[in-house]
Amino acid sequence: MEVILQPNQEAAAALVARIVAHDVRANPHLVLGLATGKTMERVYRHLVCMHQQEHLDFSLCTTFNLDEYVGLFPSDPNSYRHYMNHHLFRHVNIDPRNTHLPNGMAADLDAECRSYEALIHRFGGIDLQLLGIGKAGHIGFNEPLSALRSRTRVKALTPTTLKQNAPFFGGEEHVPRRAITMGVGTIIETRRCLLLVTGESKAEVIARAVEGPITSMVSASALQLHPRCTVIVDEDAAANLKEKEYYRWIFENEPEWQDYQ
Ligand code: F6R
Repeated sequence: MEVILQPNQEAAAALVARIVAHDVRANPHLVLGLATGKTMERVYRHLVCMHQQEHLDFSLCTTFNLDEYVGLFPSDPNSYRHYMNHHLFRHVNIDPRNTHLPNGMAADLDAECRSYEALIHRFGGIDLQLLGIGKAGHIGFNEPLSALRSRTRVKALTPTTLKQNAPFFGGEEHVPRRAITMGVGTIIETRRCLLLVTGESKAEVIARAVEGPITSMVSASALQLHPRCTVIVDEDAAANLKEKEYYRWIFENEPEWQDYQ
């Protein structure tokens, strides 16, 4: 795991977008894992800009989103399908047939989860996975106590997550109680992942995930097992990290990061 510090939310999101753009250019057939949420909105804004101004080409890419609420139609303004159309898909040249999210309206949810895993497998696995972190430490909707080897499945949301997502639904009581999510095991098998974390409200949980022990109580801590995970944090979110000087040195000095200065 490596941690990269950026001065603010904007710089952190821009760096994530530049890494995505670099990988899409290097491999136009990239299989991209996507996340939703407030933090990712900035990243998608940057990618849309790069498509419009620098001809970043998504036409051959395939995408798999981490999760979707159970019980929402794709057309529902709170569904993650709607979010992705709104923030990214309709503004770039990705083929909608190549964009995948779990179907939260499937009659047989367990079968839907199994076929989502099979589809990822059929495309050769995910090359680059974007991740955010919830206040309870979730990645995707892998709430506390998610098994470290879990696969795509239905998960009940914790009170912390219901509260975090309540503003989008006009109150906690309207937030769906369950979601389909890639498992921690599914995420750990991706070839590379980028966890973007911004804002002081995430400072405590990201310190536990990155510098604390691996525990299913903080699903994001399982990323310590990932062979190539980069955590990009802004200064507010980095407030509780102990090894900040080391992380700064890496970004400023390691050859891999020279093109991103
Ligand atoms: C959503 C997802 C979640 C969010 C996390 C952070 O697809 O995977 O894990 O990334 O809840 O959400 P924000 O960015 O809204 O704080």
